[in-house]
Amino acid sequence: MKTAIVYYSMGGNVKFASHEIARLLEADLIELVPQKEYPDRGVRKFLWGGKSAVMGERPALEPYEFDPEKYDRVIFATPVWASTFAPPLRTFIDENREALAKMKLAAVVCFAGSGADRALVKLKDELDISAFEESLVLVDPKDKPTTEKMRQIEDFADSLK
Ligand SMILES: Cc1cc2nc3c(=O)[nH]c(=O)nc-3n(C[C@H](O)[C@H](O)[C@H](O)COP(=O)(O)O)c2cc1C
Repeated sequence: MKTAIVYYSMGGNVKFASHEIARLLEADLIELVPQKEYPDRGVRKFLWGGKSAVMGERPALEPYEFDPEKYDRVIFATPVWASTFAPPLRTFIDENREALAKMKLAAVVCFAGSGADRALVKLKDELDISAFEESLVLVDPKDKPTTEKMRQIEDFADSLK
C-alpha cells in the first residue's frame, strides 16, 4: 500500500512528525506551501493564521506534485490553528476531492494543548467521512520531544503497515 503524507507546517513540528512517519512507512511527502506565506512571528502570526482558519479560507498554494493514481492512502498532517486544521489543507482537499473519496485517510495533528479533538472533527467534516483509519495527536513533537512521543509515532506507523 503506497501512502502520501500531505502536510502543512509553519514552525517545523508537523514537518518533523511527517518526516518520521514517512521514513517508517516509506511514504511520499507532499508539503503544502501557501503562495502568500502566513506571518510566522509575534502577534501577527496568531492573528492572521487564526483568522484565516476560523474564516475557513482556502489560500492559493504553490504547485505541488500529487498523482492520485500512485496512492491508496493519504495521511493529512496539520497544526491546530484556533481549534481547527490549517487552511492550506482546505485548499488541497478542495482541489482533490474526487480522488480522496476513493482513498484510505488518516490524520496527524500537532498542537500546544487545546483543540486537537475539535480539529480532527472539522477535518473529518471537510472530507465528508465519519472516521479516520487512524489518527495521531502530538504536543509540539519537535519543540518538546519525548521518548513517549517517538513511541506514539512508531505505534501510529505500525498500525498503518
Ligand atoms: C495561528 C496559530 C493558531 C494556533 N492555535 C492553537 C490552538 O487553538 N490550540 C493549540 O493547542 N495550539 C495552537 N497553536 C499552536 C500549534 O498548533 C502548535 O504549536 C503546533 O505544534 C505547531 O505546528 P508547526 O510547528 O508544524 O507549525 C496555534 C499556532 C498558530 C500559529
